[in-house]
Amino acid sequence: MSAFIEQLPKVELHLHIEGSLEPELVFALARRNGITLNYADESALRAAYDFHDLQSFLDIYYAGMSVLQTEQDFFDMTYAYLQRAHGEHVRHTEIFFDPQAHTDRGVPFSVVITGIHRALEQARHEWGMSSRLIMSFLRHLPEESAIETLRQAEPFHPFLTGVGLDSAEKGNPPEKFRRVYALAREQGYRLVAHAGEEGPPQYIRDALALLQVERIDHGVAAIEDPALMDELAEARIPLTVCPLSNLKLKVVNSMADHPMARLLQAGLCVTVNSDDPAYFGGYMNANYLALQRGLGMSDAELLQLALNGVEACWLSPEEKALLMRDIRAHGEQYGIYPVR
Ligand code: HPA
Ligand code: ZN
Repeated sequence: MSAFIEQLPKVELHLHIEGSLEPELVFALARRNGITLNYADESALRAAYDFHDLQSFLDIYYAGMSVLQTEQDFFDMTYAYLQRAHGEHVRHTEIFFDPQAHTDRGVPFSVVITGIHRALEQARHEWGMSSRLIMSFLRHLPEESAIETLRQAEPFHPFLTGVGLDSAEKGNPPEKFRRVYALAREQGYRLVAHAGEEGPPQYIRDALALLQVERIDHGVAAIEDPALMDELAEARIPLTVCPLSNLKLKVVNSMADHPMARLLQAGLCVTVNSDDPAYFGGYMNANYLALQRGLGMSDAELLQLALNGVEACWLSPEEKALLMRDIRAHGEQYGIYPVR
């Protein structure tokens, strides 16, 4: 691992907190809660992380998070991620959680969000690490369930900045969630959605036009649609790209085929993120490293990706300026200047 990547100040904008649950913590929480898992031990669980598409991952992802029961469980999971991210010089993070995956198991919304929020506050106090929380709707469930979840979130609105859309993309287009996005917008939430991971470029267009999102999660399918790429570049619509996730879920066949470099060179505001790091083989540094080693991206390009992360995030303009200054100063130590 190069010191340039390791010490680079980073922003993470696409992280499912339930996807940060390492097998060791899954088993520790299972023991604490008296739950028996279908896997003998940590290595048996890890051995099952051999995915052929998004759905094959989601099946294990939902099974893994079933050990989460108490507020302390949600705290411990979130704190473990934040500690890891802090160790990798992540200075700011915008985190997804999937409330319906817990409320559908009988865990109250309040338990989930208070545990996560308490860990975010602790990271802010301990390390000055800033964060935002994004409530993500499961797109394989009916829109009514998302609307009910939005209602359950009302007392916790101050803990939440945005809403998102995740889970099985194919066959669950953005238009299915028009009403809940309109309601969320009225309530003052910022809007993002997963689109163009396994789905077509049209889902990216629809997320922008029908849901009015300001940022696209993944969005790598844009590479198939030059006119869309021009629009995304022109409007500086950020894409929160997740290289190792795309490799593990076979969205790309090899890192050498990944569109990140082409999207950056076409002027899009692409950013680096880890998605579900416990499942996809690495956190932020590993994702930057994969772009360097597997795709041959230069340090100047990596520096630009880090700056794009700041541009795309929800910090104030003053906070963004400070963080960008630190990223540029880091580059200058190595004689590296951003490409844009
Ligand atoms: N895509 C869709 N849904 C998800 C993902 C993802 O990468 N991670 C967790 N839920
Ligand atoms: Zn995701």
